[in-house]
Amino acid sequence: MGLDQVQTKPHERLAEALAGDMDAVNATIRARMASEHAPRIPEVTAHLVEAGGKRLRPMLTLAAARMCGYQGPFHVHLAATVEFIHTATLLHDDVVDESGQRRGRPTANLLWDNKSSVLVGDYLFSRSFQLMVETGSLRVLDILSNASATIAEGEVLQLTAAQDLATDEGIYLQVVRGKTAALFSAATEVGGVIAGADEAHVRALYDFGDALGIAFQIVDDLLDYGGDATATGKNVGDDFRERKLTLPVIKAVALADAEERAFWRRVIEKGDQREGDLEQALELLARHGAMEATRAEALGWVTKAKAAISALPSHDLRDMLHDLADYVVARIS
Ligand code: IPE
Ligand code: IPE
Ligand code: MG
Ligand code: MG
Repeated sequence: MGLDQVQTKPHERLAEALAGDMDAVNATIRARMASEHAPRIPEVTAHLVEAGGKRLRPMLTLAAARMCGYQGPFHVHLAATVEFIHTATLLHDDVVDESGQRRGRPTANLLWDNKSSVLVGDYLFSRSFQLMVETGSLRVLDILSNASATIAEGEVLQLTAAQDLATDEGIYLQVVRGKTAALFSAATEVGGVIAGADEAHVRALYDFGDALGIAFQIVDDLLDYGGDATATGKNVGDDFRERKLTLPVIKAVALADAEERAFWRRVIEKGDQREGDLEQALELLARHGAMEATRAEALGWVTKAKAAISALPSHDLRDMLHDLADYVVARIS
């Protein structure tokens, strides 16, 4: 490994390798986020899009298509579609979660209002459908429309699982697979499909995206307790405030004694949260090794992701995706 590789992060290497394609994706995003008739739309979308974001999902689509030998124009449409779906879900998610910070900026719901976030999110969803229709591939439409439905299902399932101490790891996995991994796996799968890759390779791409997405969300949930707001661009403690049963809490609740259970019942079930409760929760997570156990689970999914991607033919981009899987968990420390 060369010195430059040691210093550059996997997603930066991927961005460099896909720079030409990513420029085209960004140009498509800028062109399609506009609206002639409602100035509020470009205001809100520009606020979010100009703040950046890691652009992980469109890179997955581009990398999958390219490593399967794709030479046509539609991987760009699909990558932009995937980022639009992602951006739409973020607008909606920040309303649902009442979040105040995203990509290091105040959220759209805070700067404008919930109505604007919901409606501009709907606009972006619709724009994403227009973009994918242009590919002319019914299979791609099938995959991405299924993913959109599954994301919404995951978010709704999470809504009913929140505040319920009976939520177990099985339900958590279902939520995470739905709200996050469904878009990762669709992103990698459509890349293979548009390239006409053989079915075993399409399946491997799907499995990679699924496992990577699950690992990614588990880490995101860890960062919500142990992260640094400057690095994540989001507030720490949002999940606790929203009384969500994420994996670290599920693990700590499973090992709680009577007194600890009473604490979790008060803050999560009753929602009676006081000064110092977040610190107390952190202390209980530490006492039961819940953060470490959660990290180990994320690492397990990283191993699955790497095994899946290894089934694809040798390619520089394949190796970068392999390293990206490690990076998803490495960003914790
Ligand atoms: C945020 O995703 C939503 C989750 C699934 C946790 P990202 O962390 O990929 O968001 P951006 O696009 O880089 O801001
Ligand atoms: C992100 O869920 C998943 C979607 C946007 C559908 P979260 O609510 O856990 O993500 P953050 O922490 O707000 O980015
Ligand atoms: Mg959220
Ligand atoms: Mg959420």
